[in-house]
Amino acid sequence: MKRTLVTGANGQIGSDLVGRLRREQGPDAVVALDITPPAAVNGADMGHHVEVADVRDRSAIERIIRAHDVGTVYHLASLLSASGESQPDRAWDVNTNGLKNVLDEARAHELTVFWPSSIAVFGPDTPKRNTPQETILNPDTMYGVTKRSGELLCRYYHRRHGVDVRSVRFPGLVSYAAPPGGGTTDYAVDMLRAAARGVPYTCFLRPDTRLPMMYMPDALQAVHRLMDADPAALSVRTSYNLTAFSLSAEELATAIRQRIPGFAVTYAPDTRQQIADTWPASVDDAPARTDWGWAPTFDLDAMVDDMLDHLRERTDEPKRG
Ligand code: SER
Repeated sequence: MKRTLVTGANGQIGSDLVGRLRREQGPDAVVALDITPPAAVNGADMGHHVEVADVRDRSAIERIIRAHDVGTVYHLASLLSASGESQPDRAWDVNTNGLKNVLDEARAHELTVFWPSSIAVFGPDTPKRNTPQETILNPDTMYGVTKRSGELLCRYYHRRHGVDVRSVRFPGLVSYAAPPGGGTTDYAVDMLRAAARGVPYTCFLRPDTRLPMMYMPDALQAVHRLMDADPAALSVRTSYNLTAFSLSAEELATAIRQRIPGFAVTYAPDTRQQIADTWPASVDDAPARTDWGWAPTFDLDAMVDDMLDHLRERTDEPKRG
């Protein structure tokens, strides 16, 4: 049996994806790799394999792929946009060389690869509304530069070496399992967590900042559909545009206030505002819909309801004990 390797397994997407793969394939089929050991709740006691390694270390990655007889890699390890601006050298190294290591291993061992790109590939001169699949891609951040370079690497390895690597440009992702870290769209999760705890929130973006977003169950559904698709149906080998809904910080605050009256939000934009200002307000994901049947199930209201339910359960837990 070929196993599935998830890099960046402790991160926002990885924490949810490892759980889903464990349920679909069985714990023994899943190898969770991260640069730090997992928290107990997502660790080896759950029955899957755990490896601690740096994706920049190709020999370590190769050893792990051989040792576990890996057939598919979900390569999630990455620095996000705000972290990338404070550590640009590290962001380039981890994001770009980490991906190249995985693609070289995929070539050598005939692995299938999923790799997330981002709305950060777009830049200030990209059309802001309904941003098309094929458009101007001049990112302003190091994170965006690594994602755009990564998209071109994926396309190159597919064309030149036949590597089956598949990718989507994720919008901001909202989830409750593990918090995001070092991103610009993180404010949405931070705001919902504050609301669930009953504390006020100071938002680091302006109230009118509108960005494309998606709830994690839809993100996992997209990954599943894309990885299940007939390779012949995939017309995009850089990375597919993908979205669920668009949201401004003020609209999220209003949606929360409809459920938690009196929830207080103030706005103190910081350097992340400059990053957000270069990203689109909405994207056109028609090729993903046509090629592999992408269709989101959560809109803003359904996401807010589900997030608050889950976050409140967690907030309540310590009190029960
Ligand atoms: N969520 C990411 C960030 O904000 C964008 O892909 O950096």
